[in-house]
Formats: sequence, C-alpha cells, structure tokens
Amino acid sequence: MKNGVILYDDRGEVLHAHGGYMLYENGYFYWFGENRTGDIRVSCYRSKDLEHWEFRNHVLTCDSKVQEHYIRSDTRLRKEVTLKDGSKKMGSCNIERPKVLYNSKTKQYVMWMHYENGVHYGDARCAVAVSDKIDGDYTYYGSFNPIGNMSRDCTVFKEEDGTAYFISAARENADLIIYRLTEDYLAIDEQVRILWPGQAREAPVLFKRNDRYYMLSSACTGWLPNQGKYAISDSLTGRWSTLKPFGDKTTYDSQPAFILPLETAGGVEWIYVGDRWNGENYPASTYVFFPLHFNEIGELTLENCEEMDWKKYLI
Ligand code: DGJ
Repeated sequence: MKNGVILYDDRGEVLHAHGGYMLYENGYFYWFGENRTGDIRVSCYRSKDLEHWEFRNHVLTCDSKVQEHYIRSDTRLRKEVTLKDGSKKMGSCNIERPKVLYNSKTKQYVMWMHYENGVHYGDARCAVAVSDKIDGDYTYYGSFNPIGNMSRDCTVFKEEDGTAYFISAARENADLIIYRLTEDYLAIDEQVRILWPGQAREAPVLFKRNDRYYMLSSACTGWLPNQGKYAISDSLTGRWSTLKPFGDKTTYDSQPAFILPLETAGGVEWIYVGDRWNGENYPASTYVFFPLHFNEIGELTLENCEEMDWKKYLI
C-alpha cells in the first residue's frame, strides 16, 4: 500500500478517515476518521489485511440522533454562529480527530472528538457520541469544554485495567491536558496532568510499550507539517522526559493521527499512522504508514518509506 496517495474503499469511493483511529475486533481492523463530504462527519471502514477497506457506515453525520446527557453539553450539530461584526451565519459542525474506545463494562463504543461550530475554531470543545455496535449509528451526546477548558486536537488512551484517558490541546493550544475519564467513559472524571505548558503541542498520540508511556505530537502550524516530537514517561501523571525530535523537520510531511500496534509472530510491531494534509483541498489529504523502531533504551525512530508491505507484519 502506497503512502501519500488517495485510497479507495470496496465501493470504489475515496476513503475518508482523516485524523483517525483504529480498533481491532473479531479479526477486523476498524478505521474511523473525519469525512467532510456533505453532511457526513465520521466514517468507518474495516479490513482484515489493512490493504482492502470495506465501507461500513457514516457513523456520525449532522443528522445523527442526539440525546441529552448528564454532561451539560450542547447537542446541536448545526447552529447559528454570531461573527465579530455581529452578523450571523449558520454552521454545520466541524468534527476532527474522532477516536473510539470500547467500554467492556457498559458494552458501549464511546467516541471522543474535537468539535467546532463549522464557521470558526473559537468553540474549542470536545464531544462524545455512543453506539452499541462498533460501526453502528452513533448517538451524539453533545459538545462541551472539559472542566471549562478549551479543547482542540485530541486523542484517547486505554490502560489494560480499562481506565481511559482523554488528552487534548487547551489554552489556545498552549498546553496539552490529560484527563481521566469516568468509568463509563462518557465524561471527564479528573484533570490529571498538564503537559508542556506554553509549548503549543498538537496532534497528540499516546501509547504504552514495555510499561512506558510515549506521547507523540506536532507543533502548531495549521495544516502545514512540522517537526514531530515525542516524550517518554514511566507514569502518565508523573514526570515526562523533555521533547525529542523524531523523523525529519516535517516528520516526512505528516502529522500524527494514531499508533497502530500489530501482534506479529516476532512480538508487537508499532506503526505510525499520520495525515498528509492538503490544507488547500482537504478531501485530497492522504495518509502515511511508517514503522517505528526502538533502540535498547527505548528511544524511537521513524522509518520513512514509500509503501507498506502489510504481509510482512500480519500473522
Ligand atoms: C492541525 C490539526 O492537527 C488538525 O487536526 C486541524 O485542526 C488543523 N490544524 C486545522 O488547521
């Protein structure tokens, strides 16, 4: 599979799963991501071999079912926005970086995402949607500012014991905040850490390898790529290393979306999945898949490659 090219699903349609995330279930990789076609917002595809993608559903649209929830959230997917000059404009929500967690206690799939009003980036909220089926129609529970904070680029992370976290850029993207979620994953339980205050990191991606946490992120340059950096910690809420660069000064023309762990015959292999954005023509944005390598002290490097041979990885 080539990096940086438009991908097509089994219907021959352009695959839109930008700023995405994958879950593995019953032999399938499910890929969720942004789709800004018409009123569609989040689409879901699945694959057994990571190369052929079957379209499953537009899991969130501007017409998705909404449900009031105990979070004091705004359930409008379309709303009128007042501009600085006092004029009003009708906006259809802009949903970015949707991530889905499975809650084994409630047996629900819970999507966390970045919400904007579709007119400007001033709302800076997170939003939650829920489904009983991985690729079902998600019910929108609304958007809100976590603990009153701004919330833009985001990701999620689930511990082996089921404790889940939501991580998002706050204070005009100056800080990256880690929140622990409630047991049902539907709300913020507690803000547990502010990372790199004032250093303006976005596109966060978090994973755990050999009992250590790795956070990958980029700087804030809109749709333009920049030097990716990463940090390591023994504890999510404890001390983190300083940020170290990985990849080249545009991290091979991409921004982190998520890390895909692959169980292979030789152990777990880690794949960096990034967005190669096209800021002028968003639907023409593409994806990159690069293997991550670790040295004996756990430092990581990214292998720049033109294509992925998934057969090398899949058992
Ligand atoms: C960079 C972010 O990582 C993207 O998700 C998107 O919000 C763009 N900025 C918008 O400029």
